[in-house]
This record gives sequence, C-alpha cells and structure tokens, in this order.
Amino acid sequence: MPGFSDLARSWVSGLGVYEPGRPIEEVAREMGFASADDIIKLASNENSLGPSPKAVVAMRAVARRMHLYPDGGAFYLREALARKLHVKPGQLLIGTGSNELIEFIGHVFLGEGMNLVMADRAFVVYKLVGDMFRAGTVLVPMREFTHDLDAMLAAITGETRVVFIANPNNPTGTMVGGAELESFLHRVPDHVITVLDEAYIELLDPALQPDTLRYVREGRNVIILRTFSKTYGLAGLRIGYAVAPEECIHLMQRVRQPFNTTAMGQAAALAALEDEEHVERTRRLVKDGLVDFEKAFRKMGLEFVPSVVNFILVKVGKGREVFEAMQKLGVIVRPMDPYRLPDHIRITVGTRVQNRRCLRALETVLAARAGGQATA
Ligand SMILES: Cc1ncc(COP(=O)(O)O)c(C=O)c1O
Repeated sequence: MPGFSDLARSWVSGLGVYEPGRPIEEVAREMGFASADDIIKLASNENSLGPSPKAVVAMRAVARRMHLYPDGGAFYLREALARKLHVKPGQLLIGTGSNELIEFIGHVFLGEGMNLVMADRAFVVYKLVGDMFRAGTVLVPMREFTHDLDAMLAAITGETRVVFIANPNNPTGTMVGGAELESFLHRVPDHVITVLDEAYIELLDPALQPDTLRYVREGRNVIILRTFSKTYGLAGLRIGYAVAPEECIHLMQRVRQPFNTTAMGQAAALAALEDEEHVERTRRLVKDGLVDFEKAFRKMGLEFVPSVVNFILVKVGKGREVFEAMQKLGVIVRPMDPYRLPDHIRITVGTRVQNRRCLRALETVLAARAGGQATA
C-alpha cells in the first residue's frame, strides 16, 4: 500500500522547516527547572513588557463572545488602521501574523518558473514560502549585515516577481534608509513587486521611520507588511496586516480563508493601536537594553552588529554550543546557524533584570569554555 509520502506531491517532503524559538515550558521540563518562571526566553523578538494592557482589557471584554465567528473582513480594525495610516480600508488586508500574508503573496504571485529575490541573511520565511510554491530564490549577499539594494537590483531577472526587503531586518537588526529605498523603487523594473516587511518599524522613533506608505498611496507595485506581534506584544494572537494598492489587496483577498483572523486578535489589535503609552515604554526599554548589551559586549570583547530594534546579533564562537549551554542556565537565545552564522547568537532585548541574567549566563558559559580550553 502506498504510504502518505508516496501519495504526497513529490516536492513536499523535501521542504525546509522553520525552527521556532523553543517554548519555555518545554525547556523548563527538559532542563529540570521547577517551573517555567525560572526560564527567560529571549529568542523570538517578542515584547518583554508583555501585551499592551489596553489589549488585555479588550480581550477580557470579548472573551464571552468567543462562541461567535469573527468578522471575516475585520471591518473595524481596517477602519482604525486606515485612519491611523492615512490609507483607504480597501488598501488593507488583515492576516494571522505577517507570516500568513507572506504566504498569500506566494499564492498570488509565485510559482514554477518564477523567482523571488531576497538578502542572504534576511527573514528565512520568504525562502520557505518561495519553496512551497516551487519558485526559485535568489539570495543576494548582504553588505556589512545590511541589505545591498544595488546588488539586489542587479540580481533581478525576467523571472523575478517579488523582492523581499525586511526593514529593519531580522536577524541582523539593521535597516536601509528612506533615500536608499526611494532610489531602489525608482529603478526596480515594472514586472517586480517590492515587499517591504516592516515587522519592527514601530520600535523606531517616528522621525526615523521611512515614509513607505506613500508608495501605496501613489499606487506603486509595493506591499508593506506589518504586525502586532512585536511592538504591540501580541505575538500569541497571530495578527498582522498588509498595506498595498487596492488591486493587489483584491487578489490577496481571493486566497484568504473567510475567518482567517480571530475575534480576540482583532479586538486586541484595535485596542493596542490606541496604546501609545505602551509603544513608548517599549521603545525606551529597547533603547536602554541595547545600550546595556553593547556596553557588556564591548567589555567582554565580543563583536556585535549594532541594532536598531529589539534584538542583537553577537559573535560568541560556536553559537549553537553557547545557546545549549545558556539554555541549561535557564536562558533561551537563538543560535544563528540556520542563517549561516554559526559563530553568532541572536538575543532579544528583555527587561533590565532579564538582560542582566542573560549577560551573566553568557559570561559564565564563555568563561567555562575559556577555562576548558586552557586546561585542554
Ligand atoms: C522580519 C519579520 N517578518 C515577519 C515576521 C513574522 O511575524 P508575525 O508574527 O506577524 O507572523 C517576523 C517574526 O519574527 C520577522 O522577524
């Protein structure tokens, strides 16, 4: 009898799998900690302050209505976003995190015989989605851990349909400025859609955020992706949005399931959007945390990539070993070998207490290794 693998479409079993940050509870159990509270997770660029308190109130208020299906079109959330961003509701699409929106882009624009262009150390999900739709991926080397937009332009072929630019980028924490983006968009060929993934954009002071929404208002071939997972602290609810010209949104609507986002997610996102205080507190926490990390890395003699967002890439040597040893001390960070940076780890900025504990764990692990090497 043929097995499921024999019956599956031939390429599916060969698809890569995203390696997520490990759940705290699982690590606690495995490492013999009494409770998940003994573990700190600085692995997935979540908001260490937690969800927007206003969002928590809104979630409680809607909890009793969870027997009802959500508003599939997310009318109120799109209206609120449209007002805030000065775009039309028809230029917005809500998804279960930007991950789902990336998949919609694959459904609509990618297939066999086509390719996507991305930086070699940009968010890995673009390639995973490209593979899923059997499109090729052209990986363009970064320059000093930053998108090299000229090289990306040069890599575009007649088969290219989408260029992904994560700005700021995960996992490098770097960004390209508004003028560079403008120059890129000016030169990108008409047959190519530029996706600007702005998952972390709200962490920047507003004056430093490139005004990319105007490209949508101008009707250019641009899709902007944003999420409530990071700055708004709602990663567990899975809610994000795309902003693009209406024609593009119409197409992406065709591949969306009728009730893709949850009612609780929509309610929380609506409330979080109004919570400027939480956004401000988050920005301050990240700014202070980055200063502390950079200072400590300098003292420890570790190279790092200066970051503009809530995580930082640091070169520790044999990153996976360091990740495993830190995990034994109850601190979860992210090894970077999937990004071909085997000597790096990525650390999410936590609260001051969490950052201190993380740095202590890192120091302990590196000291033990240096001791081991000295006696070996
Ligand atoms: C650059 C980038 N884009 C998109 C995402 C996905 O975010 P979401 O939780 O909205 O799916 C992430 C999450 O880590 C990210 O780093």
